[in-house]
Amino acid sequence: MAVLNVAVLVSGRGSNLRALLDRAASQAGFRVAVVVSDQPEAPALERAASAGVPVAMVAPAPGEGRAAFDARLDAELARRGVELVCLAGFMRILGSAFVGRWRGRLVNIHPSLLPAYPGLDTHARALRDGATRHGCTVHWVRPEVDAGPIIAQAAVPVRRTDDPATLAARVLSAEHGLYPEVVAGIAAGRLQDPGA
Ligand code: GRF
Repeated sequence: MAVLNVAVLVSGRGSNLRALLDRAASQAGFRVAVVVSDQPEAPALERAASAGVPVAMVAPAPGEGRAAFDARLDAELARRGVELVCLAGFMRILGSAFVGRWRGRLVNIHPSLLPAYPGLDTHARALRDGATRHGCTVHWVRPEVDAGPIIAQAAVPVRRTDDPATLAARVLSAEHGLYPEVVAGIAAGRLQDPGA
């Protein structure tokens, strides 16, 4: 069976990257062809290196606009033969031209049960609202941030004793189960962008 070439785009810690690398190592039908970071200091890069995965640094140049950055990113992905792009804590907003070019081949993981809590600080906001359920979502990417058709979600309970850190840890652990499962499903042809 053909193995899907995946790029994982990161800016920070890289725990979802690690979950994807672990799954790829156990015959998931996909391989991580490249890890792309916009942050030279991202701890995720060490995870990539220790797994022997190539790293591409695409950091914004001084004064560079979004379109120029996106074009460099696009060229890097094309050069590596990437077939699916997984955003995993990538902290840059991608422009609509880039998102359009990769439509159907671009997914993101977000730490809330979308459409609840798009954007940042999702755990603190859920706690502030007294939510009893929270979780994470993997979705196809559209130009609007944290929008796009939902592929799968994993819910976790919110406990009365939670603070944003304990809740984040519970959600993160759910992310690590959900994201590799979805990417394996895409690789197997079971999951497709309904708008692609
Ligand atoms: C995760 O919570 C993910 O949902 C969000 O950014 C965080 C990345 O964490 N998009 P990590 O870098 O994968 O550990």
